[in-house]
Amino acid sequence: MSGVRKKRVAVLISGRGSNMAALIDAAKTADFPAEIALVLSNKADAGGLAIAAANGIKTVVIDHKPFGRDRAAFDAAMQAVLVAEGIEIVCLAGFMRIMSEEFVNGWFGRMINIHPALLPLFKGLDTHARALEAGVKLHGCSTHFVTPGMDEGPIIAQAAVPVLDDDTPETLGARVLAEEHRLYPETLRLLASGALVISGNRVLRS
Ligand code: GAR
Repeated sequence: MSGVRKKRVAVLISGRGSNMAALIDAAKTADFPAEIALVLSNKADAGGLAIAAANGIKTVVIDHKPFGRDRAAFDAAMQAVLVAEGIEIVCLAGFMRIMSEEFVNGWFGRMINIHPALLPLFKGLDTHARALEAGVKLHGCSTHFVTPGMDEGPIIAQAAVPVLDDDTPETLGARVLAEEHRLYPETLRLLASGALVISGNRVLRS
């Protein structure tokens, strides 16, 4: 897409960063409409930080602990970095912090998340074990716009995988993760190219 400026994206992580790595890889493609300009972590030991640095991407750590219960102050510190870096889109990729309503609302339509379940089923943690316990035959992952409720917000895209008789949370999780790595870059491509329209709780393709 020569001549069209790529959107500046920040990826927020707390851990190993495999979805972040998938976004970084996708963004290396010449025609990808976004560049990963920043990786921000609330944990200094997040494995994804080294991957980002190895790819020449700026990394910032903002430890949430000194902020205690003051979510607004932590979010203000994040906001300052995002603004300073000219960030236009925020991708949550295993970012395990609940954010203040004000921060989330300020990014509405420009902040997305990936969740390892077919939302609105299995919000929260341990989704693969809970899917097995519930006996569902299909499981998967969802990308969605972020709103103040955890793992809520208009769903952008989903990918389903079968649940097999001999699955454990680990084998099922690995099958879902492979789909996450495909779905998240595809979602970012759609958002950054302006192809998504939010209509109430639905996301339509323009
Ligand atoms: C991913 O499976 C992601 O979907 C999940 O955390 C994992 C992070 O792995 N996110 C959530 O559960 C959000 N509610 P990663 O660091 O390897 O991308």
